[in-house]
Amino acid sequence: MEKLNELKLKIEGMSSPCCAEEIKGDLLKVEGVKKVSTYFADKIIKVEIDTEKVTKEQLIAAVKEAGYEAVVTEGKEKIKFEQQLKDLAEKYGLSFQVLQDHWNFVKEASAKVFADCCKWCHAHQITEMADAEAFCKSAIAEGMGEPETSEQLFKIKKKVEVLTDDEIKGLTAERYGKFAEKYAEKGNPCLIRKKQVKELYKEEELSLVPKTALNLALGCGNPVSFANLKSGEIVVDFGCGAGIDLILAAHKVGPEGRVIGIDLTPQMIKKEGQSEAEAGFPAERIEEHIGDIEKLELPDNLTDVVTSNCVIILTPNKEAAYREAFRILKPGGRLAISDMVFSEKIDPQIQERFQSTWAGVVGGAIAEKDYLEIVTKAGFGQINIVKRHFLTPGELFAMSTCPGTEFVPAPDSKDLEAVQGKVVSIKFTAVKP
Ligand SMILES: C[S@@+](CC[C@H](N)C(=O)[O-])C[C@H]1O[C@@H](n2cnc3c(N)ncnc32)[C@H](O)[C@@H]1O
Repeated sequence: MEKLNELKLKIEGMSSPCCAEEIKGDLLKVEGVKKVSTYFADKIIKVEIDTEKVTKEQLIAAVKEAGYEAVVTEGKEKIKFEQQLKDLAEKYGLSFQVLQDHWNFVKEASAKVFADCCKWCHAHQITEMADAEAFCKSAIAEGMGEPETSEQLFKIKKKVEVLTDDEIKGLTAERYGKFAEKYAEKGNPCLIRKKQVKELYKEEELSLVPKTALNLALGCGNPVSFANLKSGEIVVDFGCGAGIDLILAAHKVGPEGRVIGIDLTPQMIKKEGQSEAEAGFPAERIEEHIGDIEKLELPDNLTDVVTSNCVIILTPNKEAAYREAFRILKPGGRLAISDMVFSEKIDPQIQERFQSTWAGVVGGAIAEKDYLEIVTKAGFGQINIVKRHFLTPGELFAMSTCPGTEFVPAPDSKDLEAVQGKVVSIKFTAVKP
């Protein structure tokens, strides 16, 4: 007979919602754990267990294994604000996760002030987290008043329409631009993303990468590691971000080679210039251009290699991006790509919901088979899958809110659960005949 109990774990070091998701994933693997609910804002995880099968010591050990410290308190004490947050999320059509995150920011406020902040932000149609935080901060400082009431003002706008290609690119540039400005110095607050970077690159590679490029690294692979670059070759990196792979490529091709980075986001290109200087390279060693990989201003048959790291998935017209890669590669030139795909076709309605907010690097994801068909149709041959990695729950959460929950609304947790185990980062090479 099962003997169920609910334990409340207070977690030290849980600094972002993606950490909470990672711990949840690890706890669910422990035998006897029935259900796990995360309350990131309060640094709490609730666990329903079968006490015949698992002890609280085992739970603490599982949390420790994930890299965090847990203190357990038994009982069914109501989690502070949980219900209020849930009500607010429902009332204003917001993601519960985003509200939790936002609550953490305005923790000094009372629940009433927080509820008023939500009401105000929606009355004034403030949807960006950073704007909402600034707004709430001044509202809290000034003392809260009633917003102007008008039926019209309180109508909640939900983003369910299909985004146009231009809107997607606009959102992408805005999100990555804000991330670049905010985190170039501080580094990514999401520990899962930091851990990923450490796992994807070898120590001797990381020792070559300057702080800005490292802090802003957002890839899902290490394309330079399997691009087989030779001294004197030309490399073009699609969606170079702040330049982690450009720096590594520049070391491989040497001063005789040529390295070109393209990115849609002006702030990322600016940070790439900074990374290059920090690496001690002269400015001409790496060429960086603001540009769209779907229509490049580069000549035909220019380059030996095209690399890309977690980018093509973000662009709405992947066919155009691969046609451009084919056009600028020399005959015999090659691709070295790391990107995100679904391992199989997923429920079209769930996919539509991911697409409606262009959810991180999962919003634009398609099935691997369809993705590789696009590569083949562009003219490439000899496709060779170097590696596949199925994302853990924490990684899935982090990737579907890339570059961070401040910039991208978290998808519904049921949708994330439905695609768990079906989101893969693939690394592959291919050749232009
Ligand atoms: C997930 S980040 C990866 C950045 C970099 N490759 C790395 O590994 O750190 C995605 C980058 O792709 C860029 N991007 C997205 N769509 C693009 C497009 N159509 N053309 C050029 N860059 C694009 C974004 O601006 C962002 O810097």
